[in-house]
Amino acid sequence: MLQAIELPSLVNSERLPAEIAERLASLRLRIEHFQDCWDQHRAEQFVAADYELVFQALRWLGECQPMIGRRFLEWGCGFAVVSCLADQLGWNAHAVEAHPDLVPQAEKTIRQWPARVELFAGNFLPHQAESLAADPTLPSLGHGGPSPYEAWDLDLDDFALVYSYPWPGEDEFHEDVFDAYAAPGALLLMFIGPNEMRLWRKGRPDRR
Ligand SMILES: C[S@@+](CC[C@H](N)C(=O)[O-])C[C@H]1O[C@@H](n2cnc3c(N)ncnc32)[C@H](O)[C@@H]1O
Repeated sequence: MLQAIELPSLVNSERLPAEIAERLASLRLRIEHFQDCWDQHRAEQFVAADYELVFQALRWLGECQPMIGRRFLEWGCGFAVVSCLADQLGWNAHAVEAHPDLVPQAEKTIRQWPARVELFAGNFLPHQAESLAADPTLPSLGHGGPSPYEAWDLDLDDFALVYSYPWPGEDEFHEDVFDAYAAPGALLLMFIGPNEMRLWRKGRPDRR
């Protein structure tokens, strides 16, 4: 079962380090340029999160929340900006992206940062996880790519923190997958939309 953790309302009031603010401003331009040129008929999958807010939330939880480890996983990384931020904050960062147009963009971000991020081109959903979806049209479904968990010889329960930016209507699906496969005590951080983030901790099973 997932337990909600409230992010402080002032989480976005702490200033970003100047170097991070500059990097994010230039990445924003690169992403806008990419989206202006992108053939949207081929893919309507990628929307960038508010990276300043995500950085502030990551920094806060790193300082204020108990962790079961330091392994971080971004589900559907797009340009891999959040994974690079996680690396910058001392996480052992892993990222998965299914879309073939976005994987090279993620590689470029990681190379230029430079950051240590294990990037995998494939499907972040564990085997059988699609069966948890009530709606078969959710954008996270139907990516038949290879499994990062097999390639890394890790399972979802080897990660202390998972980050995702679900499309509207698939947030509960991401939560259900995390609840079914993550380790007790692990955290799920989600960017939901402007000024809205959600943080969950997977509870430990009852001892009787
Ligand atoms: C809304 S974007 C978020 C991108 C990035 N995480 C961010 O916060 O800016 C969702 C991303 O997830 C990717 N994606 C969706 N379902 C996926 C799946 N099952 N496996 C891997 N990537 C997936 C999409 O291609 C897209 O890049």
